[in-house]
Amino acid sequence: MLKKLFRSKSLESLQAQADEPKHQLKKNLSTFDLTMFGIGAIIGAGIFSSIGTAAAGNLADGRWPAGPALVISILLVAVGCGFTALAYAELASMIPVSGSAYTYAFATMGELMAWIIGWDLLLEYAVSNVAVAISWGDYARSFLANVMHIRIPGWLAMDPRSALALVPGTPPATVARKLEVLAQARAGHLDGASFFANWDVLRDAPLVHGFPFTMNLLAVVITVVITYLVYLGIKESARANAVMVVVKVAILLAVVAIGFRFVNPGNWHPFAPHGFKGIQAGAAIIFFAFIGFDAVSTTAEECRDPGRSLPRGILFSLGICTAIYALVALVVTGMLKYTQLAGKADPLAYIFTHNNMNAVAGVISFGAVIATTAALLVYQVGQPRIFMAMSRDGLLGPWFGKVSASHRTPANATFLTGLLVAVPAALLNIDEVVELTNIGTLFAFSVVCGAVMILRLRRPEAPRRFRMPWIFVLAPAGILACIWIARGLPAVTWIRFVVWLAIGLVIYFAYGQRNSVLQTGTEEP
Ligand code: ALA
Repeated sequence: MLKKLFRSKSLESLQAQADEPKHQLKKNLSTFDLTMFGIGAIIGAGIFSSIGTAAAGNLADGRWPAGPALVISILLVAVGCGFTALAYAELASMIPVSGSAYTYAFATMGELMAWIIGWDLLLEYAVSNVAVAISWGDYARSFLANVMHIRIPGWLAMDPRSALALVPGTPPATVARKLEVLAQARAGHLDGASFFANWDVLRDAPLVHGFPFTMNLLAVVITVVITYLVYLGIKESARANAVMVVVKVAILLAVVAIGFRFVNPGNWHPFAPHGFKGIQAGAAIIFFAFIGFDAVSTTAEECRDPGRSLPRGILFSLGICTAIYALVALVVTGMLKYTQLAGKADPLAYIFTHNNMNAVAGVISFGAVIATTAALLVYQVGQPRIFMAMSRDGLLGPWFGKVSASHRTPANATFLTGLLVAVPAALLNIDEVVELTNIGTLFAFSVVCGAVMILRLRRPEAPRRFRMPWIFVLAPAGILACIWIARGLPAVTWIRFVVWLAIGLVIYFAYGQRNSVLQTGTEEP
């Protein structure tokens, strides 16, 4: 039994599997495409929306503000991600097979760990895309309202839980009680605004059996559009992505260039108002903005020269984004006192509206829409390829790995991913989704740092086009960095993560373990 759980795949069998004609994908991505792809994944909702919360914190929820020292949080997270990036680069250059951390775990720690990581990566790809889609919806709505003068009703732009949120300071109430109050308020017997933080949304929302129906419509629309684009083909997606990456980098650089002229150095004092605690809490939030460099490795089978392009694409994209983020953080905390950023969902636009530069703020909102579109695109490409890899191994049914004859893309898995993102994006709250994504991704990153060391010890002779320097120092440092960042997350996130893994294990023992190709003998163990 134990042997089954730890049965692993040889590097040679992984390569041979990818080389089979029925599994062949188009191979036309270059280092440039991969760097653009990485930037597309990294710069997204994180820098455009969570940078404000990271700087200003939220003491009511026990989140310490980083203050202007957010730039230190950013540099620390970048260094931690850099260690993991080197591990990804070495693994991707020696196992150029779609599937990313999942595949690496299979080659090193065995089937059970591979399954756990594959399941965990759903958090990083699909669940993070839920957050990105929600954020896209928020920015798109404000762009439509402010620039195009098109108003989307509030009940079509908010999840039900946020819609039913009470006014800050009100004692907590059960859903049944809230519905009672809502019914009375809608009948005109009570003032709804003194109970509900989003009364304007609840007042207009249609009722279904007394329950207000609200959803993030725009988040669903963008998910459907992007899913279709991904289905059409990876090169087409890469091209669309490259255009969006140029636009969003240009917009962030414009924030820096214009914003620097309005910086008041007095705002940078005190620099670290809550010391190292604040810096760590800021890191736990801003980590979301760094996720994505690893998504590059999921395109391994579609690269012209994976050994060269993968490590370069991963490291270039991480380096470029770190430099941009550090500058943006300095500008944001320099233009306003960090405390003024509290509760702002659109901090980059806000720093300009605050300085009466509404036109610039409009352009920034547009940039946020573009940025989040590109991030969505990358994860919608990555997730189906992980499903595909798991299906090839028999841990998921063959349905998940079917490649479309006309477009040479994993069609079923692509549409399933669309569904898995669109439905929660319509109904869930963004903060919970971001934290769950962060913990899942940090776990996957730690496993990757472990996997690269195991393979160095077990297969020192296997060809590597890229070797992680000082591996037995930097890979453990990567694991420690992940632990340090994860410790900044609330306990409820840890609990949700454990529940998530438990559900995954049930599925593995009910299906994957029995149908694994290593079990059925359709592949050499
Ligand atoms: N890094 C990605 C973002 O910030 C997940 O949207």
